[in-house]
Amino acid sequence: ALPIIIDCDPGVDDAIALLLALASPELEVRAVTTVAGNVPGDRTAENARRVLALAGRGDVPVHAGCVGPILGPVMRGKYSGAGGLGGTLLPEAEAPLAAGHAVDVLTAELSAAARAGTPVTVCTLGPFTNLAVALARDPSLAQGIKQIVSMAGAFVAGGNRTPTAEFNVLADPHAAEIVLRCGAPVVLAPLDVTFQALATPARVAAFRAMPGRVVQTAAELITFYDRNDPDRYGEPGGPLHDPCVVAYLLKPELFGARAANVSVELTEGKCYGQTVGDFFNTTDRPRNATVLSRLDAPGFFDLLWSRLASYA
Ligand code: BDR
Ligand code: CA
Repeated sequence: ALPIIIDCDPGVDDAIALLLALASPELEVRAVTTVAGNVPGDRTAENARRVLALAGRGDVPVHAGCVGPILGPVMRGKYSGAGGLGGTLLPEAEAPLAAGHAVDVLTAELSAAARAGTPVTVCTLGPFTNLAVALARDPSLAQGIKQIVSMAGAFVAGGNRTPTAEFNVLADPHAAEIVLRCGAPVVLAPLDVTFQALATPARVAAFRAMPGRVVQTAAELITFYDRNDPDRYGEPGGPLHDPCVVAYLLKPELFGARAANVSVELTEGKCYGQTVGDFFNTTDRPRNATVLSRLDAPGFFDLLWSRLASYA
């Protein structure tokens, strides 16, 4: 199985992504690290542990990480509710928080992977702070990374927190830039692709009809998360951003992609936090990212729903 570390800020869509990864025998989830994002850092760590309890995977360690960005104001998510996971839907955590700060765990895992010549895949589903701090402390950690697959950015789709910026990048733009420059291969699932992962009422109804506690809880979470704003995405329903990252690891053929140089706008102003993609090689900057652009949405939902139903 592919060894992965999932860095996240649950967050409803993070929770669904964790459930998808833990239901997938192709992946070996070595650790879950958490970061402040949708909700404060103590909540994201607690929420991750509750998601693992729901999955019956209290054996996977959860390490809490950075509680705010490297620089700039603290931002919170808008769509996952005050607690981040729609209230009291999830069971109590089974296992205590694991010892070790997320940055130290990323450092230990990636340096061991570099020494052993068996690089690890890092998935980031929230602001990039933990990975960026680890890389700033020891840039050679990039040699222990097979690839970084991240829900981050917005290109032609436009931003969801400013006209040009997506939340995970805007919440810590400097961290995003550090990761993009680290030298390891980066795959971005930006809003351009995640807006296509729309949990429409018909899709959620088909899912809810499947048996099992995980299905029922996940359906509740997705319904809670659903902004039900038909003007926003063309159809009603909420986009399942973060599960796109895990789906890409499982079935990359569900996605269309383009290679580009991607950098983050760090000058304060109305484009602060924008991901800038040089898709037509107008500069001599190297192509440092693969940017996902198209999604086979029916294939994505077949994969997601069937894996979540497999918990039953
Ligand atoms: C991203 O922001 C968060 O609110 C979601 O969990 C997702 O990771 C979408 O912009
Ligand atoms: Ca997230």
